[in-house]
Amino acid sequence: MEVVILPTPEDCGRVVADILAAAVTGGDRPVLGLATGSSPLLAYRELVRRHRDEGLSFAGVRTFNLDEYVGLPPDHPESYRSVIRRELTSQLDIDDADVHGPDGAHPDPLVAAREYEQRLRDDGPVAVQLLGIGANGHIGFNEPGSSLTSVTRVKTLTEQTRRDNARFFDRPDDVPRHVITQGLGTIARAEHLVLTASGPGKAAAVAAGVEGPLTASCPASALQLHPHATVVVDEAAAARLERADYYRYTLAHKLPHQPF
Ligand code: F6R
Repeated sequence: MEVVILPTPEDCGRVVADILAAAVTGGDRPVLGLATGSSPLLAYRELVRRHRDEGLSFAGVRTFNLDEYVGLPPDHPESYRSVIRRELTSQLDIDDADVHGPDGAHPDPLVAAREYEQRLRDDGPVAVQLLGIGANGHIGFNEPGSSLTSVTRVKTLTEQTRRDNARFFDRPDDVPRHVITQGLGTIARAEHLVLTASGPGKAAAVAAGVEGPLTASCPASALQLHPHATVVVDEAAAARLERADYYRYTLAHKLPHQPF
């Protein structure tokens, strides 16, 4: 795993945008795995800027969201389908038919989860899967205790995650209790995992995921098993990493032709 510690969240956004842009320009109809929440927003803004100002084209790119709330209509402003369209894909030259996510409004969410897993198998592999991390170490909505080989399924959010996400809703009670999320095994099929986090609230989870034991109690620790995982964090989110000096040293001495 490569850990990239940068001074600010804006710096992290630029590096994550570099990685996604390289996948877009280097692949034929590449598949990008997208996360929602606050963590990826600066990277998305940077990609939109590069598209607008520098002509970076996303023509032919297909996108797959990590997860979705169960029970929100697809046009609800906080459904992850709406969020990803608003924050990213509608501002790029990506065909809306190529923007995918689990169907949280399906009459049977269990069926929707199975169908999404199959879709990912049929259309994959994902070239780059972007990830945030929850304060409790979740990735996607794989809450602590999730099987390290899990596939897309319905999960029940912890009360902590519901409280953390209440900022996006009018009332805390409006946060759905259930989600459909790619499993840890699903996520692991992506060719490159890129986890980004900023701020002191993520420091403990980042340290547990990167340097703690491999355990279902910290789902982000599953990155330790992946052959190509990159963790891009600002100084505040890196504050509890014991090997931080080594990660900085490694970054400073990267070979010129050694990509992230
Ligand atoms: C969202 C997702 C979650 C978030 C995590 C962090 O699609 O999968 O794992 O990445 O909850 O959320 P933020 O970035 O809002 O702190």
